[in-house]
Amino acid sequence: MLKLALLASGRGSNVEAILRACADTSRPLGAKPVVLLSNVRGARCLDLARDAGVPTVLVEHGDHASRDAFDRALLAALAPYSPDLICLAGFMRVLGTRFLATYPGRVLNIHPSLLPSFPGLHGARDALRHGVRIAGCTVHLVEEGVDSGPIVAQAAVPVLDTDTEESLARRILEQEHRIYPEAIALFAKGAVRIEGRRVLRTPSGGEADGAP
Ligand code: GRF
Repeated sequence: MLKLALLASGRGSNVEAILRACADTSRPLGAKPVVLLSNVRGARCLDLARDAGVPTVLVEHGDHASRDAFDRALLAALAPYSPDLICLAGFMRVLGTRFLATYPGRVLNIHPSLLPSFPGLHGARDALRHGVRIAGCTVHLVEEGVDSGPIVAQAAVPVLDTDTEESLARRILEQEHRIYPEAIALFAKGAVRIEGRRVLRTPSGGEADGAP
């Protein structure tokens, strides 16, 4: 069973989707959340984890003078849970070298655009303003540099003429909730092989090429 640490800052809808997928005995994910860490006191993601019986930790970034000090605090908070995979789910802080070196190739993030297009804070808004006809979301490995690591999974969403930022973001989010648990399942099955920037499916994954 792959042990997951979930890191989140806000409403936690991706956390909710991952918790639900992990609890679904009809489609075992092969992963279980062992801790939820938030940097925001009172964030909804903390309540969701508590309600699911998952231990929670609060590490507030304001208490730390530098990114490295924050990294150390995060690492110290996670260490007792020995996570195998770190899943960022709306975690609004950039992780530093120390953190990433501790969990090499083991930190995932979900982003609301088809990377490498539209990195940054406003994936849906930027896609709409640019006029693309296809938007989407990406699960990627985290490396230094924002929204730039190797891509694990993506899902496309058509942009409708009637879309507002909110309606597009909502449809993208539905896909996030689908592909994030699927990406975690690939890691749980040991069904991925990383070659440079490419995250390839291994035959044991049982997925056809290109899926999910
Ligand atoms: C999601 O859109 C995710 O892609 C981005 O932050 C948002 C978090 O939403 N990284 P939620 O907290 O999971 O609802």
